[in-house]
Formats: sequence, C-alpha cells, structure tokens
Amino acid sequence: MTDVVLSATNLTKRFPTGRSGNFVNAVNGVDLCIRRGEVLGMVGESGSGKSTIGRTILRLTDPSEGQITFDGRDITNLPAKTIRPLRKDMQMVFQDPWSALNPRMKIGDLIAEPLRIHFNMSRSECADRTEILAKRVSLSIDFLNRTPSALSGGQLQRVCIARAIATNPKLIVLDEPTSSLDLSVRAGILELLQELRVETEAGFLFISHDLGTIKLISDRIAVLYLGRIVEEVPKSKLFSDPSHPYTQSLLSAHLPSDPNEKIERLPLEGEIPSPINLPTGCSFHTRCPLAINECKSKPPSPEQISAGHMASCLRIRDGKNIISREIK
Ligand SMILES: Nc1ncnc2c1ncn2[C@@H]1O[C@H](COP(=O)(O)OP(=O)(O)OP(=O)(O)O)[C@@H](O)[C@H]1O
Ligand SMILES: [Mg+2]
Repeated sequence: MTDVVLSATNLTKRFPTGRSGNFVNAVNGVDLCIRRGEVLGMVGESGSGKSTIGRTILRLTDPSEGQITFDGRDITNLPAKTIRPLRKDMQMVFQDPWSALNPRMKIGDLIAEPLRIHFNMSRSECADRTEILAKRVSLSIDFLNRTPSALSGGQLQRVCIARAIATNPKLIVLDEPTSSLDLSVRAGILELLQELRVETEAGFLFISHDLGTIKLISDRIAVLYLGRIVEEVPKSKLFSDPSHPYTQSLLSAHLPSDPNEKIERLPLEGEIPSPINLPTGCSFHTRCPLAINECKSKPPSPEQISAGHMASCLRIRDGKNIISREIK
C-alpha cells in the first residue's frame, strides 16, 4: 500500500486572456507529491500560481496538461459527476472565511452540511457529530445557533476547518488560511492545524506567502516562481541550505521571528515578469544576480542537493549558486 495521497506530474494550467491567442501561463510543468499525514508547504510571490495549483489538484479547475493521481486513482480527466463523491476525501480551506461561508446559515448547519451531503446520517447522529466537530476546533457550542456575523474571523476560520475535517478527508488544501486573520489569532489556528494533521493523518498542502508560517507547519517546502517549483526542500534545510538563488532572496527578505537574528539582505532587481510572456531558459534569469548566458536559453532541470532536496539552477553544478558567496 502506498502512502502517497496526491501526486501530480507536469501539472500545467493556462488561462486564455481576453486577447485572442494569448494565455496566462499560471502553472508550468509542476511535479509534486503529498503523503499521508504530511504537510507540504508552498511558498511564492503573489501570482506565482499557488492557488491555481491548489484548485487544480482538487479538480476545482481543469488542468491544461499533466496528470493528477489522488489516492491511487488517475483523476485528471474524471467528469464532474464522478468527482463529486470523491469531494468528501479532498477538502479546501480558503484565505477568507467571511466569503467562504453562507452568511444566512446557522453555524451548526454550516458544519453539518458536508455530513448531510456525503453521509447518510440521521438528524440526531448529524447533530451529535456537529457538536463533536465544534468542540474539536474549540468553538463554543453556543455558536451553533448563531449566524456567521456573530463570530470573529478566527472563529469563522475554525468553522471552515470543522467543515473541512467533517468527512475525514485524505487531502486538505489550505490556501493562506491565516493570512486574513489578526496576528493574535494566527498562532491558535496553526496550533489547531498541527494537532489535526496528526489526528486526521490527512495530507496537507499548506499555501502561504509567509516563510515563518510555512516553517512552523510544513515538513517539506516547495518554492514557486512563475508557476514552476524552483526548489523543494525539507524544512530543516530551508533556512540552513537554500540552494536556489530565488529561495535565498526570499529568505533574506522575510522578517525573522527573533529580532536579533542577523539576515543578509539580497534584494531582487526588477519586477516579476508577466506570466503571459514567460522568460526563455530559466524563468528567474531576468532577476538573478548569478545568471550567465546559458541561463537565458537553457531551462534548468532539478538537481539533487541531498535526500529530498532538489533545486533547478544551472549554477549548482559548478557551486556558483549561492548569492552571498558570489556577489561581494
Ligand atoms: N481564473 C483566472 N483567469 C485568468 N487568469 C487567472 C485566473 N486565476 C489566476 N489567474 C492568473 O494566474 C496567475 C497565478 O494566479 P494564482 O492566483 O494562482 O497566484 P497565487 O500565487 O495564488 O497569488 P496570491 O499570492 O496573490 O494569492 C496570475 O497571473 C493570475 O492573474
Ligand atoms: Mg493565491
């Protein structure tokens, strides 16, 4: 038996733009794999394709190319009717809990909704399970008769999490689940998610802009640039051995949790290129301080750095991929 819950190969998503013949190349040949009980973190700038990957692996949007295997089954081309019963095994938590929940429904009904859709439960079984779920996400059961307007953002996100775990899914995509919340409540939500990934044994894809958050919860981290994974790295190596120049500059721009920590700033020059006209060769070459002529024409293949650590940079082979060492 395999413990791989989700694998994607050459995942590609192009959105047609208004102008004929042009496409937004949102996701460009991504390979990824998520195992049971594992959190794969995904980090990248705005527009790098994180949400599109999350939605595509759940088949909420159709891939343009590539293959998606969920729980051992190729789901790439399954029609919506066949996907529907699989929805109980693959759930998503969105950034904005306010727009994810119907404001007119009671919290109890919102939590019970996935149970009613996917399981043939009696009313009382459903009510019992709803209470258990509310308690599990530390929501007072007094809220079950209220509507979303009575709850804070953090409490609403707990409702969304209760809905996501209600059907015991095998895969949960969390798309920036703490970004819209006050700093003071983020830690509590992350702590809850940490507990749930152990209890549920589901595979998590945890999407975030924030490296600090990603570091707290992820086992492995995929760094995305213009719809490509440029580095995939175990958490322990992300901060100590970032191998792609883009990862190094991302790390140098993040706010450390310890204000005394010294970080060497490696600011990136220029803007992120348009995904309508992707750069040739390595997508990062237009901003990379280490780029050489070959980087403009030759797309880099993933190089293995160590076990579970891959990075796609042509300069790795001659050891010239570390910005602070090469640029003085
Ligand atoms: N439905 C759509 N139609 C057209 N273009 C889209 C659509 N959805 C996303 N895009 C484009 O695809 C690219 C990737 O978008 P995506 O939302 O996946 O990025 P992201 O990494 O999640 O960004 P953010 O951090 O801002 O949430 C962007 O250029 C975006 O404008
Ligand atoms: Mg997004």
